[in-house]
Amino acid sequence: MSAVVDPGLERTIAAETRLSDVQGQEGKLFLAGYPAEEIAPYATFEEMLHLLWFDRLPDRAELETFSKNLARRRELPDATIELMRSAASRQIQPMDALRMGLSSLDSSDRSVDEQALSVVAKTATIVATYHRLLNAQEPVPPNQEPGHVSALLMMLEGKTPTAERVRALETYLNTVSDHGLNASTFAGRVIIATHSDLISAVTGAVGALKGPLHGGAPGPALDMVFDIETADRAEPYLREKLDHGERLMGFGHRVYKVRDPRADILGEATRRLYRSGEGDEDLYNLAVEVEAVALRLLDEYKPGRNLQTNVEYYTALLLHCLGFPVSLFTPTFAVGRVGGWIAHCREQLETGRLIRPGATYTGQDDRTWIPLDQR
Ligand code: COA
Repeated sequence: MSAVVDPGLERTIAAETRLSDVQGQEGKLFLAGYPAEEIAPYATFEEMLHLLWFDRLPDRAELETFSKNLARRRELPDATIELMRSAASRQIQPMDALRMGLSSLDSSDRSVDEQALSVVAKTATIVATYHRLLNAQEPVPPNQEPGHVSALLMMLEGKTPTAERVRALETYLNTVSDHGLNASTFAGRVIIATHSDLISAVTGAVGALKGPLHGGAPGPALDMVFDIETADRAEPYLREKLDHGERLMGFGHRVYKVRDPRADILGEATRRLYRSGEGDEDLYNLAVEVEAVALRLLDEYKPGRNLQTNVEYYTALLLHCLGFPVSLFTPTFAVGRVGGWIAHCREQLETGRLIRPGATYTGQDDRTWIPLDQR
């Protein structure tokens, strides 16, 4: 079989999936067949998980059972909490703590279904527990009553969230729950394809998500808007970055060559949250102006590259509007994406094929071993 070298794999189809259809040229995203903008703002996160894992929305009774099964797995083992305490005392960064927390979970003697529920439930608890510990607050023990997103907000903030806050965060988590064969999802699929376990796959995926070219961009995107301060400073500030060959965070995408449809879903969710009286509307207005200047300059500096706003830009604004600090942005992304990682792992397990691409050897040939004392 002849093969071509494709270093970023963008010309390689490595899997078939029914989970999400990312139409990069059209700027459309379908989640298990539903246009993202028609499902993300309305579904609960539990409905989204059920859809991704079982390929259909649950009926009322199924949703209740599914939600209960998820909720009763929220509690962390003592060893994980101790590990989080120790990490917080050393001021370990939150994505590293999430990786450590997940890898401390036990994968033995549990079915894939049980592990799946447990990993999703505990990802939220680890993120909230670590956030509080890092801020010198005692963790809020998980409550089994509310839905996943209410529970996450309660564990983070120690109080019952408003319906508007729950809806905004739920929309965000649904929007980012799955997105084709992105880097972290691919990492998870590679791991599970060896018939390892879901905890290992999700831990590896967290490592991939952490990078600034993937899930680590919303923090820098928001920093950029903060640094700019006023709309008149946007152009000189962004020009200086581009003159120095720097990338503008929150812009450009490997697949979307038009505006990322998730930017509009999150932009609308952010606007709705402001209307309910949350957040800093001036910052939002500034961000909209910065976005327009950035798009104009990207077109000028990188003509023909079609660099457009991506999901991270409005993620930053939405999470900031919810009062989340930048350190929580990428971990919160993981709380949503873990549903998609697991859905992909389940799909990968069904196809059962080890992922093992080739590499073209470009090193030297015919070397002869020289003992150390003769080199
Ligand atoms: N700002 C400025 N220039 C950018 C850019 C950005 N955000 N994104 C891409 N470019 C430029 C590259 O420098 C390159 O220019 P060149 O051909 O003159 O060297 C060209 O556009 C193509 O970039 P490339 O790295 O091949 O694109 P990619 O498909 O590998 O990159 C990203 C996709 C997302 C990694 C990239 O757009 C990026 O780094 N964006 C900023 C980080 C970010 O927002 N990440 C979140 C993604 S959801």
